[in-house]
Amino acid sequence: MPALRDIINHYITESVVTFEMVEMSLENRKTWFTQFTQDGRYQLMVAELDGTVVGYAASLRFHQRPAYAPSVMTSIYLHKDHTGKGIGEKVYSALIEELKKVEDVHRAYGLVVLPNPGSEKLHEKLGFQVAGLLHEGGFKFGKYHDVRMYEHRLGK
Ligand SMILES: CC(C)(COP(=O)(O)OP(=O)(O)OC[C@H]1O[C@@H](n2cnc3c(N)ncnc32)[C@H](O)[C@@H]1OP(=O)(O)O)[C@@H](O)C(=O)NCCC(=O)NCCS
Repeated sequence: MPALRDIINHYITESVVTFEMVEMSLENRKTWFTQFTQDGRYQLMVAELDGTVVGYAASLRFHQRPAYAPSVMTSIYLHKDHTGKGIGEKVYSALIEELKKVEDVHRAYGLVVLPNPGSEKLHEKLGFQVAGLLHEGGFKFGKYHDVRMYEHRLGK
């Protein structure tokens, strides 16, 4: 859990790839972890290299309004020293394969703050389609940022 916290905190403080603005505490990550199950809508895949946690992919609630329940939001973060080595593709595709098996998940949405060439490429490679653009949809570090919404139909 501390490793997962440190991975996301790096991107919270150093980049706009996540629109989270405040560093996560260990307590926060422990609470976050309770939403995940092994075969439900909300799942967490952790990538390990030689016994060290180097990243994760997760499916999360997409929207609080109940009719959105069969849609999940996906999220992926690797430790900054372990990007560009194929780990993202492995852990994200493992998550997508698990989601395909879950009857009550119909769509997965990935929100990518532009530009993010690695994430754009990864989403497209794994079968996500562009669903739209949130023009200047977020404000972080004194600037508005465009967000591309990717949709995965999960074979459904
Ligand atoms: C985005 C991220 C998950 C991608 O995972 P990764 O392990 O670095 O990517 P992979 O090595 O699996 O590469 C997947 C594909 O993207 C390409 N790619 C990776 N990084 C790239 C980059 N910076 N620019 C262009 N293409 C890139 C790879 O070449 C590969 O395509 P190929 O097989 O056709 O060569 C990872 O870099 C990351 O965690 N980045 C920081 C956090 C982040 O941006 N998260 C996503 C938020 S939406």
